[in-house]
Amino acid sequence: MKFSVLILSLIVLFTAAFTAEAATPVLPKGYVTWKKSDRKVVTDKSSPFYGIHYIYADKKAQSGYQADNHFPEGSRIVVEFFNIKDNPAVDGPKNMIVLMQKDKRQKATGGWLFAGFGTDGKSSGIDPVSTCFGCHQKDAAQRDFVISTKKDFPGK
Ligand code: HEC
Repeated sequence: MKFSVLILSLIVLFTAAFTAEAATPVLPKGYVTWKKSDRKVVTDKSSPFYGIHYIYADKKAQSGYQADNHFPEGSRIVVEFFNIKDNPAVDGPKNMIVLMQKDKRQKATGGWLFAGFGTDGKSSGIDPVSTCFGCHQKDAAQRDFVISTKKDFPGK
């Protein structure tokens, strides 16, 4: 009996350590070579998206968009945000990068890892449940929690 309790605690400990390790977000290298969305400009200052942004989708995510937002495990989507300096036709300084990576272990956030990064590519350590998931759940529960669709990409 005692022995099985010990084994069980070890399993719990190991799983916790492993999950924490796996959840440490890393910005994928080379995402700028992925398929890039049309340029998106939001000039409404009251919008959380005020500024300019581009969405990048890796091969798996592209197939997910083509399948009307049914994404395979491992799909990665990155968004780069830029300020508007004077002229909305020109990208101002980059201010933030976000990532969604399909990961079935992330049960609290719909099977996606959500992560934010500074312009240096370092994790901003945000809490994905309170910071990110709300909008995605509200706007895209029927679309695998991905708000954009294939229409956002050139060539459609
Ligand atoms: C205020 C609501 C809101 C919050 C909070 C939010 N998002 Fe989003 N997110 C959106 C919308 C709307 C889009 C679609 C943008 C577009 O179509 O151009 C989006 C798009 C994305 C995309 C591209 C894939 C998709 O769903 O279209 C990623 C990746 C992403 N968000 C990650 C994050 C992360 C990480 C956080 C937390 C740091 C976050 N989001 C917080 C509303 C939100």
